[in-house]
Amino acid sequence: MNGAEIPYQLRPSKFIDRQIFVELLSRLIQVRGPENYIYISMGGRHLVDHYAVYRDLGIKAQFSFDSDENAVARQIFNRPTDATLCGRMHSSALPSELDKIAAKFPTRRNVIVWLDYTNTDRKLQLQEAEQTLIRLKHGDIFRITMNANVRHLSQGPAGGSANKETFRANYLRDQIEDMMPTTITAIGDDDFPLVLVKCIELTAQKAKVQVPHLDFLPVLTTSYADGQRMLTVTCAVRDPSQHESFPNSHFHRWQFASRSWDHIDDISVPVLSAKERFRLDSNLNKSAKKMLKALKFMPADDELSSLAAVSNYKKFQRFYPAFRHVDD
Ligand SMILES: C[S@@+](CC[C@H](N)C(=O)[O-])C[C@H]1O[C@@H](n2cnc3c(N)ncnc32)[C@H](O)[C@@H]1O
Repeated sequence: MNGAEIPYQLRPSKFIDRQIFVELLSRLIQVRGPENYIYISMGGRHLVDHYAVYRDLGIKAQFSFDSDENAVARQIFNRPTDATLCGRMHSSALPSELDKIAAKFPTRRNVIVWLDYTNTDRKLQLQEAEQTLIRLKHGDIFRITMNANVRHLSQGPAGGSANKETFRANYLRDQIEDMMPTTITAIGDDDFPLVLVKCIELTAQKAKVQVPHLDFLPVLTTSYADGQRMLTVTCAVRDPSQHESFPNSHFHRWQFASRSWDHIDDISVPVLSAKERFRLDSNLNKSAKKMLKALKFMPADDELSSLAAVSNYKKFQRFYPAFRHVDD
């Protein structure tokens, strides 16, 4: 069973990540008018993200693409409204297709683009990101998800951890070449998400050289590991010569707003039953220690990791997926 097959009860982090993204969008675009935006992403067969932006933000102008023909047929079946357009396309075609997609929604000024990758074609993905970024404009939003599973960097040679870390960095450099900053010479067990952030930052810098009038500002960076570890960076596109400041001046008060490229929110929540959640929810204003005590068992391997699990639950509680029967 691959990640996409696992039900959300068993992978709450991806669900939470998407919900935080929708809240980010509301922070960024509510004042500008969601009706000015086209939402473009690889929505997968159920278009869960398209439903979320339609339901929570009212964005009807939507485009979804997928390289798999049957996935597109399923998207067409599942689309939230008949205004959602779905097409068979590989992401490498997106940059050159952006104008045509925008022309299908002539009254919209801006786009939100999410490249939700799952595989490890990192060089191609970063090149596609660069080619997409240079076609964006003030008020647009760009999001990219990449696989950050350190195991994909191969196990490396036997021997000390220093050897392994250097091997991984060399392996990644061979894979993505000039899309990797030269300062990265070792990748430790937990470093891969931050290394990918640095690669995405470099990609944004390369894009800026081509469109110097634009700034690509990181606004939300998250990582989670429901199955594979994933890394997602979202950037706001700003043209400082415009009168409007984007994001607006209140944005940085938002709990998850990125303050710099290096700031990653790790979404690492425990898998809980409804009964366990209710107990934690009724103790939510207490310290993590007291919340853990209220549970009367360890939700993780030991006390330290259980405390971390409860603290994380507290941080992401309002986004945690709740499942109800349709008849409830
Ligand atoms: C992770 S799923 C999308 C999930 C969805 N965005 C959500 O929030 O639930 C990724 C989808 O994109 C497709 N896909 C992956 N890489 C692609 C690429 N490079 N070009 C086009 N489609 C791709 C896959 O077939 C899959 O259906």
